[in-house]
Amino acid sequence: MSQRIFNFSAGPACLPEAVLEEARDNLLSLGSTGIGILEHSHRGKAYLAVHEQAVALIRELGQVPDSHEVLFLTGGASLQFSMIPLNLLSAGETADYLVTGMWSQKAVVEAQRVARVHEACSSADRNFCYIPTRCEYSPRPRYVHFTSNNTIFGTQFRHEPTPPAGVPLVCDASSDIFSRPVDVSKYGLIYAGAQKNLGPSGVTVVIIHKDLVAQGPQDLATMLQYRTHADENSLYNTPPTFGIYVLGLMLKWLKSQGGLEAVARGNEEKAGKLYAYLDQSRLFRATAEPGSRSLMNVTFVTGQPAVDEAFLKRATREGLDGLKGHRSVGGMRASLYNAFPPKGVDALISLMRDFEQSHANPS
Ligand SMILES: Cc1ncc(COP(=O)(O)O)c(C=O)c1O
Repeated sequence: MSQRIFNFSAGPACLPEAVLEEARDNLLSLGSTGIGILEHSHRGKAYLAVHEQAVALIRELGQVPDSHEVLFLTGGASLQFSMIPLNLLSAGETADYLVTGMWSQKAVVEAQRVARVHEACSSADRNFCYIPTRCEYSPRPRYVHFTSNNTIFGTQFRHEPTPPAGVPLVCDASSDIFSRPVDVSKYGLIYAGAQKNLGPSGVTVVIIHKDLVAQGPQDLATMLQYRTHADENSLYNTPPTFGIYVLGLMLKWLKSQGGLEAVARGNEEKAGKLYAYLDQSRLFRATAEPGSRSLMNVTFVTGQPAVDEAFLKRATREGLDGLKGHRSVGGMRASLYNAFPPKGVDALISLMRDFEQSHANPS
């Protein structure tokens, strides 16, 4: 096996070696079928078993109640920015959006094409470095939308916001889905591209309350209706079969780690170590406010772009890849999703310590 390096990419992101190896082993023949996983018909028994297992594991690990459907869609979280208002909002209605970063801003733009959007809060005033603690909802929102983890700005909600009574909560959980347990019964809809915490790109997981499926308009394009996918168990058209297969392997791996509570503890440890280092560093500092810090994407800077650049170059040389921060924050971003190994965090801290020492005492 070639030397694998530490991949801090924000997504697609690293996967457990056990998952990659099992996928590799089934490329030529899925089990004893003699047909590789990429080649199986989505209508055949072998693939249907894969599909059912992935749905069952989402339900089991996420403790998804029977009131909710589990869907596997395509088009990424970005298509959900449109499907959600198209299915849930009628002209004349208002949806409330919590604006905590670029992805929530993009979601707002798509909702505005359909109906009115009310910004219940925003942290744009300080380049999204914090999660607002107060929301002002409109008188009768159709739903409340938030982004649980802000991949670019390195902030994360500790708990879900509380919408007005009876108003469905809609969550873009693209960058922290299944990184910790959540009470799905509090949500009308949760969506996420799988490519950060749950597997490869190409599959979007949507967990949606059955009432919301039933309330969607029937005159929408067939593929854009949640009803279509719910009625056909996400098999109305050809689903991304390989992506769903790897998603299933990833879910099996999460289960083998002890489920979401154990996974959450691991994620807290990984990010906690890195923030602890940042908090005592004289060179590096975290960009997100302490109470709002993400356990998934740790964003940090030196405050000197040339020094950031030098650090990134050295990191790449030493086999730590994908650390460049998004251009709107600059500096560095270490993405520590579910599959990211703890020893990668140790390697990063050790490199930062060394870099900091040589920066303080140039030879
Ligand atoms: C929080 C969040 N929402 C939405 C998206 C867009 O996802 P996709 O590329 O699957 O459309 C991303 C991608 O990084 C994201 O981090």
